[in-house]
Amino acid sequence: MRKNFLWGGAVAAHQVEGAYNVKGKGLSTADVMTAGNVHTPREITDGVVEGKFYPNHEGIRFYDHYQEDIQMFSEMGFKCLRTSIAWSRIFPNGDEDAPNEDGLQFYDDLFDCMIEHGMQPVITLSHFEIPYHLVKTYGGWRNRKMIDFFYRFCQVVLKRYQNKVKYWMTFNEINNQMLVENDLYAFTNSGIVFENGEDRLHTIYQAVHYQFVASALVTEYAHSLNPEIQMGCCVAATPNYPNTSNPDDILLAQAEDRKLLMFTDVQIRGHYPRYLLNEWNTRNYTFDITSQDLQIMEKGTVDYLGFTYYMSNTVSADPSVKKLGDDLQGNYAVDNPYLSTTDWGWAIDPKGLRYVMNMYQDRYEIPMFIVENGFGYADQFIDGHIHDQNRMDYLKAHIAEMKKAIEEDGCDCIGYTVWGCIDPISFTTGEMKKRYGFIYVDRNNDGTGSYKRYKKDSFYWYQKVIESNGENL
Ligand code: BG6
Repeated sequence: MRKNFLWGGAVAAHQVEGAYNVKGKGLSTADVMTAGNVHTPREITDGVVEGKFYPNHEGIRFYDHYQEDIQMFSEMGFKCLRTSIAWSRIFPNGDEDAPNEDGLQFYDDLFDCMIEHGMQPVITLSHFEIPYHLVKTYGGWRNRKMIDFFYRFCQVVLKRYQNKVKYWMTFNEINNQMLVENDLYAFTNSGIVFENGEDRLHTIYQAVHYQFVASALVTEYAHSLNPEIQMGCCVAATPNYPNTSNPDDILLAQAEDRKLLMFTDVQIRGHYPRYLLNEWNTRNYTFDITSQDLQIMEKGTVDYLGFTYYMSNTVSADPSVKKLGDDLQGNYAVDNPYLSTTDWGWAIDPKGLRYVMNMYQDRYEIPMFIVENGFGYADQFIDGHIHDQNRMDYLKAHIAEMKKAIEEDGCDCIGYTVWGCIDPISFTTGEMKKRYGFIYVDRNNDGTGSYKRYKKDSFYWYQKVIESNGENL
């Protein structure tokens, strides 16, 4: 392992900060999502509706507790902390000309605190939250105007924090929205609410195109502003395995993988791949894509490949094979008998991490950064203690495979940040009880609790992992 390997943790603004309406912050998409659970999806409401419960409004009160939390991260030895900037703290509506100074000051203070504690901020510019006004007034990323709004926001924060933040990412898990049957992803990735009967896939491809242009513009701007800055993309790297050796399954897995690879192909190589252009042609799709857009995309390619990894997906083309019917994993997903799952049905597959790292290394030969990996579990709080052995087992197995990919296979990896290093609000379900942290937060699903922080057993374990640079698992 390289000496300066970036061990750390990751959170996102809307899942931890709370303070959803203080010091000028505007409403964001995350503020209009209620809580669900493993069986019931979160509801996306038309604005904040009285009487409904919105778990992100309060988060875990990181906005007020961040100094204490960062102190605890530094006790674990974090070299970096990944979080995001809430766009609506900086531009409350998204389409103003001038930013909100109070919002900017908050992130100055937050980043200073991280740096004082010896950790680099790793910052996502758009992590599943868009000023809600942009959704209502412009239809979110359906609209080309979003490129300008996003660009303006990014210019402001890149300029302001250029000497504090080296590693940036544009859009978190930009590929999630390819699961078009799931309303959640279109809304969180792009602020899109589907209309009845619309061709969802066409809508999403258009939105994704605008995001590609925006991402490239921002990347080019960052490079011209400060050559030290490293810009990355971010995808949810869920590889697809064929269910059997039947060539139909093999071809299906390849086709499903392309829904993931197209995002890195464009953001790393700078142009649309042939397989995608061909698909659009076959579907008779046309889009608002200008030649200037294509030039921008060619120039604004990223410096590193950021990805999150939680699970693999196994797919079957055989109609007689029972599908999971889980809209988080797509229409062809089937059970993989070689893997167990979390209580939320996510396949636990440490070797899949080694597999995706090698897939990316072979295809792109640029540095990669594992910006999320973690284990969601309903931890038991017993007499002030949380014995989360299963989380340690999960992380240990994944880190071991990551090390093999680096040391035995030669993958070039900058760092590894564990998702939800302090218990956050779950993104997919809005629950508190789906916990990820090394630090337990005393908050219940309904928002009650003292919000006090407690160290779990995994806290001390990760401390040793970092101290030994991954030797001591
Ligand atoms: C990733 C997201 O999809 O997975 C995070 O980038 C999210 O925002 C994480 O929280 C885990 O998902 P969940 O639904 O278990 O919180």
